Parts: sequence; structure tokens; C-alpha cells
Amino acid sequence: MNSKEIMAASEAHVAPTYRRYPVALVRGAGTRVWDADGREYLDFLAGIAVCNLGHCHPEVVRALQEQAARLFHVSNLYYMEPQARLAAMLTARSFADRVFFCNSGAEANEAAIKLARLYGRQVLGQPAPEIITMRRSFHGRTMATLSATGQEKIQAGYDPLLGGFRYVPYDDLPAVAAAVSDRTCAVMVEPVQGEGGVVVPAPDYLAGLRRLCDERRLLLILDEVQTGMGRTGRLFAYQHSDAAPEVMTLAKGLGGGFPIGAMLATATVAALFGPGTHASTFGGNPLACSTAARVLELIDTEEILGNCRRQGERLRRGLRELAGRHACIREVRGLGLMVGADLEVPVAEVVSGCLEKGVLVGPAGTDTLRLTPPLNVTAADVDILLSVLDEVLP
Ligand SMILES: Cc1ncc(COP(=O)(O)O)c(C=O)c1O
Repeated sequence: MNSKEIMAASEAHVAPTYRRYPVALVRGAGTRVWDADGREYLDFLAGIAVCNLGHCHPEVVRALQEQAARLFHVSNLYYMEPQARLAAMLTARSFADRVFFCNSGAEANEAAIKLARLYGRQVLGQPAPEIITMRRSFHGRTMATLSATGQEKIQAGYDPLLGGFRYVPYDDLPAVAAAVSDRTCAVMVEPVQGEGGVVVPAPDYLAGLRRLCDERRLLLILDEVQTGMGRTGRLFAYQHSDAAPEVMTLAKGLGGGFPIGAMLATATVAALFGPGTHASTFGGNPLACSTAARVLELIDTEEILGNCRRQGERLRRGLRELAGRHACIREVRGLGLMVGADLEVPVAEVVSGCLEKGVLVGPAGTDTLRLTPPLNVTAADVDILLSVLDEVLP
């Protein structure tokens, strides 16, 4: 099919939940993707922080192909070598002792919410445990995770919402402290808010939450679905501070584009789950876990994490220079290669302008331009993006 045919078939038959740009992508390699008519694009979105090693990394492709030839799927009623191996790799590299595997970020957060409720009920003796989450947060689109999400536009039309969530402003420790009650069992937070507009909190925010959770015996749940897997320049964003959580969720970059999610927890908290208390048919299947294990090995290197930090700095410096020439750039924020720029012009127009010039970027929040390129992006790629923005911005 050519681009026109793909778009027409999608418009006719795919559920209308997405507003799409008029491009049908069919192939990718590294930081580049191609549409069905053969046009090349520089990808500064990377599936929204998913393809952290770029597209079709040869070693990731090999891991997937080798596993595909061996075993796609068996039930979680049996042990699986790739699942065991990936769990051991994730726990060796983090605070966690145990991993529950699933297929997406929302499912990972569902598992975290369920575990927190068990903690509230069984450890704190709460009949109706409550989780504190943040305004402008994003935790997913299932009923529990959209209820956890502190954004009315995500919840609109879906009430009655799931109860047991209390929202406070992000990056506001006194607000969290004031919201804790004898019903509170956990605080759930993104180390950097992604969908809310790439919001980086004060450097002591996570450590402050950690202290508060310790004082009040609350679980700290970090939603690292977007910030995890090297995106911020460390393997996990919590590693920028010494604020290890009890629970952390991952998805997006974990499979480098192959669907997989994970909820990681300390041994004592994970022990609240037992056989039959939670499950997923596809969670942790051999294809996903073999792919993610290779992705993890490749990302957890100074080559990738150092490049992420360097190119993130180059990108933010370049954007701040552009702000000197383009008054419509109000603020530049970010950590590693999770970068946002608040604009005073419609972000959608800037995104479309970049697309016309062969560069994929995206929006976040209401007026933020979002840049989440692969972590192995080159300085030359960053400079191309900056010069395209220089042309597109008024
Ligand atoms: C921080 C965060 N949590 C959860 C999710 C939901 O992940 P998924 O779309 O895989 O369900 C996202 C997706 O953007 C996210 O950014």
C-alpha cells in the first residue's frame, strides 16, 4: 500500500482514538524512519521515549529473531529462561528484588496500585487504602490508571472513576505532607512528568518524598515508564538522587519497541502478592523478555548513558540559544534526552512544520514541544533538529 491507501484504510477501519499526522511509516533504522512513499525522516520522538536504541538495532533484531525461532510463548504456569534472566538483570541493576511482568505501562501501574492496596490493608490495617498522586501526572488509560492520573481531560466521560486516589500539586512537598491521612498507603509519582509537559522537579523532591514515606510508613511508587531505561541519563531516574522506592514501574523503553511492562518491588512488599493474586497471559513471555534483556545490556553502558547526558545538554543548550532568536520559546526543560520547550505559538503548528521538513517531534501537555530522540542520537542529528527548528519557529 502507498501512504494514501494506508491512511484511507486506517481512517475507514481503525477506531478513531488518535489524531494522526499525515504520514504512514513503514521502515526504520537508527534515528531514521521512512514513509510508504520512500521519504526519510529524522525521528526525535522515538515512539515517545520507546525506541531508546533507535529503530531496528541489529543486535536487538537478532535477539528477537533467535527467540522467535526457539519459543514464542508458554503459559506462566511454567518457568521460562528469558523471563528469569531478565528479572535477575533488572534486580541486579536496581533497588528491587522481584519483578512482575506485563505488557504495558498502564498494566505495570495497575500491578503497583493493586500491590499498594494489599500493603494498606495487610500491613497498615486500612479498610479503604488511598494513594496520593500528582496533578498533571500520567499513569495510563485503564480505569485504575486514569483514575490515578491527575488530569481531568484524561478522565472526562469515564466516571464513575475508581476511588482511593488523592491528587496534590507536583513538586510540592508540603502539599503531600498535608494530604497524608490514616487512609494513605502510598505516594505514586513520576520522577520527571512526561505527558504533563516534561516537568523536572526540584533536585531534592524525590529525597523529600522518600523521607516523608519513611516517616509515615508509606510506599513510594515511582512511575518510571517514561523516565526509565536510560532516558534521563541514568538507567533509572531515581538513581540521580538517593531516593530508592519500594515499587517502580517500567514499560516504553524496556523492550526497545517490543511491548513489555514490568513492576519491580522490594522483597517484603512483593511478598504481599502470592500465587493467584495477580496474573497476565502474555506478561513476561519469552519473545518480550529476550528482546528486553538485550536492550537492557546495550543501554546500561557508559557509551549510551553518557551519550544521552551529552546530547541532552547539547540539545538544551541549542534550544536556549534558539530562544535568543525566537521569543516564542518561553522555557527549556529536561533531564538527559527527555526534553521539553514551552512555546507561545501553537505546538501543533511547529510539529507540522518540522514534519514537512523531515523531522518527527511531538507535543506534551498543552503548550510544550517534546523531544525524546533515541539515546544513541549523534551530535550531527541534534544539530539538524536545531536548524530545522530555527527555520520553523516564528
Ligand atoms: C509515566 C507514564 N506512565 C504510564 C504510561 C502508560 O503507558 P502505556 O501507554 O504503555 O500503557 C505512560 C505513557 O505515556 C507514561 O508516560
